[in-house]
Parts: sequence; structure tokens; C-alpha cells
Amino acid sequence: MTPSPSPPGPVLRLGDVAALRAQVRAWRAAGEGVALVPTMGALHEGHLSLVRRAQARCRRVVVSIFVNPTQFGPNEDFSRYPRVLEADLALLAEVGADAAFLPEVATMYPPGFATTVTVAGLTEVLCGPLRPGHFAGVATVVTKLLLQGLPDRALFGEKDFQQLQVIRRAARDLDIPVAIEGAPTFREADGLAMSSRNRYLSAEERRVAPVMHAVLQQVAEAVRGGGETAPALAQGRAALEAAGFSPVQYLSVNDAESLAPLDRVEGPARVLAAAYLGRTRLIDNVAV
Ligand code: PAF
Repeated sequence: MTPSPSPPGPVLRLGDVAALRAQVRAWRAAGEGVALVPTMGALHEGHLSLVRRAQARCRRVVVSIFVNPTQFGPNEDFSRYPRVLEADLALLAEVGADAAFLPEVATMYPPGFATTVTVAGLTEVLCGPLRPGHFAGVATVVTKLLLQGLPDRALFGEKDFQQLQVIRRAARDLDIPVAIEGAPTFREADGLAMSSRNRYLSAEERRVAPVMHAVLQQVAEAVRGGGETAPALAQGRAALEAAGFSPVQYLSVNDAESLAPLDRVEGPARVLAAAYLGRTRLIDNVAV
């Protein structure tokens, strides 16, 4: 039976781990399932679609908002990452989320913090070598969030497909008793994957940005029957560059499970891309 979500209304603000744990424990003791949607805030329809999906699975939904410093490189956008807490809480109230977990950096990383979760293999391709330390930062913070709240399930968007696979693997390897669910990428009408970073795009860059999704679809179509991936990828890269993406960091066809690059598609696969439009780095992927 699908649980009925909470009606729109004020969202409970939870600032520390003890409060989060006590609340989740109370809901579970009352027989209510609890889902967690981890975010870094600057919420958009993509996040809200995750909340709605979570509400269809569990009676209670907690959204964490934490701009995690350990997943940003020294030259990345940590300091300018949008922080719009009151707007985020208003959106969560509208959609009927039950609680927001809002830890401070010192709560997540107290002085002397010395433990990191690293996932081998999956992080050695695609964004891994381009963003050293990024996935260790993600795996560490998500592991902490899962253990802090111990919800029944946690939901993540497929837009960050490599991140999703890393989180699945970490949760499985560490026996974290939380079901990890991926949800389809939420897109603008013109195909652009929703992302908090889209707000960095100029009007001209925003016009060009949907080309990435179009190229991913063309590559997926071309390699679907099992042909060689190289010609389709060369054509796709040229199309991205012609549209103004520079540099194109990767355009690649990879196994959907192991993320190993593929010369030919023989099972479930993904086409993935990362490229800059001006100063903004965009990533996206589609299933083959
Ligand atoms: O996808 C994100 O917003 C972040 O990487 C996550 C999963 C919330 C961890 O900080």
C-alpha cells in the first residue's frame, strides 16, 4: 500500500545527530517507514521529484541539506555553491517533506576527524581521475548520513550516475542496512538535466546546454545494436565541441554496473559526458 504523504506544512528542523536519530527512531517505533533524500540544497524540481518518490515509498521523508566541503576540490565551486536555506525549506514545506536535517560542518567533521570511505575501481574512471578525492568525500558523507539516520531507504538521482553506483557499492560493502534507490534524471522541457549548477549558466550557455542530452541520446541510439562505440563517440564529441562545450572532459560508453569503458555494447550500458560550458561544468548520462 502506498503511504499517504504529510500535507504541506512547516518542516521540522533537525540540527544534530541525536535529534535526527531520536526522530527517526520515534517514527519507526510507530510503524512508519522513513526515507532520506540527501542533498546539498539549492533545491529544484529534480530534488522535489526525489522527495515525491520517497513519499510514495515511506510515510516519513527527511531531506538532508549539507554542502559537503570534502567533495569539492581546491579549485572547485565550494565557496560559491548556492546556499538558499530559507527558500529550500519553503519548497520542502510545499511538497510535504517531514523534516530537514541541517548539520553544521563541525557536526559532520568534528576536530580530529580522520576516517574516509574510499571505493576502489568504480572511482578510477570518468569523473574519478578528474576530481581527485571527490568520490571519497561523497562516500564518506553519505555513509555518515545513512548511519546517523538509519532510514529504511535513501534516494539519489541518476544524473550523478557514477555517484549512485559508488554509494550503492559502499552501502553494500559496509553492510549499511539502508535500501539505496536511484531515480530517473529530472529534465527541463528541452532535455537539460536539472542541476543546482544550472543557475551559473548565462542566457547563451543555457541555450546551448541541452545539446549535451541530445548528443548522449544520439550516441545511445548509434551503439544500441552492438556496433563499435568509437565512431559514435568521435561524432558526439565533435558535436559537443561545435556547440561550444570546452573542454569536453569525457564522452564515454560504460558498463552500467562496473562502469568499465566499452568498445561495444553487449549488456546494460550508459553513455556519460562531462564538459564545461564557460565556467560551468555539466555532467549527464543516458541509458543505452
Ligand atoms: O548529489 C549530491 O547532492 C551530493 O553529492 C550528496 C549525495 C548529497 C552528498 O553530498
